[in-house]
Amino acid sequence: MTQTAVPAAQLPGGGTMPLLGFGTWQITGPQAYDAVRTALDVGYRHIDTATVYRNEEEVGRALADSGVPRGEVFVTTKVPPGADDPRKTLETSLQKLGTDHLDLWLIHWTEGDSIHENLWRVLLEAQQAGKVRDVGVSNYSLDQIDRLTRSTGQQPAVNQIEWAPTLYDDEVARGHAQRGIVLEGYSALKNTNLDDPVLREIAEANDVSTAQVLLRWHLDHGFVAIPKSVTPERIAANFAITGFSLAAEDVARIDALAAR
Ligand SMILES: NC(=O)c1ccc[n+]([C@@H]2O[C@H](COP(=O)([O-])OP(=O)(O)OC[C@H]3O[C@@H](n4cnc5c(N)ncnc54)[C@H](OP(=O)(O)O)[C@@H]3O)[C@@H](O)[C@H]2O)c1
Repeated sequence: MTQTAVPAAQLPGGGTMPLLGFGTWQITGPQAYDAVRTALDVGYRHIDTATVYRNEEEVGRALADSGVPRGEVFVTTKVPPGADDPRKTLETSLQKLGTDHLDLWLIHWTEGDSIHENLWRVLLEAQQAGKVRDVGVSNYSLDQIDRLTRSTGQQPAVNQIEWAPTLYDDEVARGHAQRGIVLEGYSALKNTNLDDPVLREIAEANDVSTAQVLLRWHLDHGFVAIPKSVTPERIAANFAITGFSLAAEDVARIDALAAR
C-alpha cells in the first residue's frame, strides 16, 4: 500500500500541525529516546510531550540525533497549571528539547472549573515573543474555552482531550469545528476494543489492522491522533495509515460505537 503525506491542520499562528503525531506519556529515560528515534525514523513529524512526562530531554536528544531538520518536526509540550513560574517552565522545556521555539504550547489540564486565565496570558506573551508558534489548552470543555476566549480575546488553537470512537460526541466535535479549534484526541487505543466486530469488518475490507482503522478514523474526521507505543512494529504500523481512507458510511459506523 503506497503511503502519502500525512494530512495537516493550519493553525492561526502559522503552524502546520500533522494530524498524526507520536505520544510520549509514560515513557522515560532510554525507552523514551529509543521510541522517539524510531518514530522519527519511520516518518512521524509531530511529537507530543509535556513537562510532567519527564522525558523532554530524551525527546530533545532523539530529535537532534535523528538528523531530521527541526523545521520539519511539529513539537508540542504542555505546562502544568500549577507551575510556580511558567516562564521558567517554558525556558526549561526549550532547553531540554534543544530548540528555540515550540510549535505548540498547551495548558495541560484544568482544576475544577477554573480556566487559568493568568497562565493563558503567559502563553500568549510567549507567542508574542516568538518562543511558541501556536498556543492551546488540554482537557478544557467548550464552555471553559469560551470563557477563556471572552476574558482574553484570544481563542486557543487546539484543545487536546481524551477521545476515541467510544467517547465520540457529535456536539463536542462540531463545537470545536465551528470555533475553528483543532480537536486533538488522546488515549484512543486505550479507550478502544481492537477486537470490536465493526472495526474488524472495516479493517478486513481495507486490508489493514483495527488499530489502523481507529487512527484513520481521526484523520478522516480532521481530528489529530497521537498514538503512543514503545514497540517498534506498532510505532511503524500506527504511522502507515495514509495509504487508505475510510468510506463515509464506515466513519459513521465507527462514530456509532459511542452509542453502544
Ligand atoms: N493531555 C493529556 O492530559 C493527556 C493524557 C493522556 C495522554 N496524552 C497524550 O496522548 C498520547 C496517547 O495516549 P496514551 O499514551 O494514554 O494511550 P494510547 O496511545 O491510546 O495507548 C497506548 C497503549 O496502546 C498500546 N498500543 C500502541 N499501538 C498499538 C497497536 N497498534 N495495537 C495494540 N496496542 C497498541 C501501547 O502499547 P506499547 O507501548 O506496549 O506498544 C500502549 O499500551 C500520550 O502518550 C500523550 O502524549 C495526553
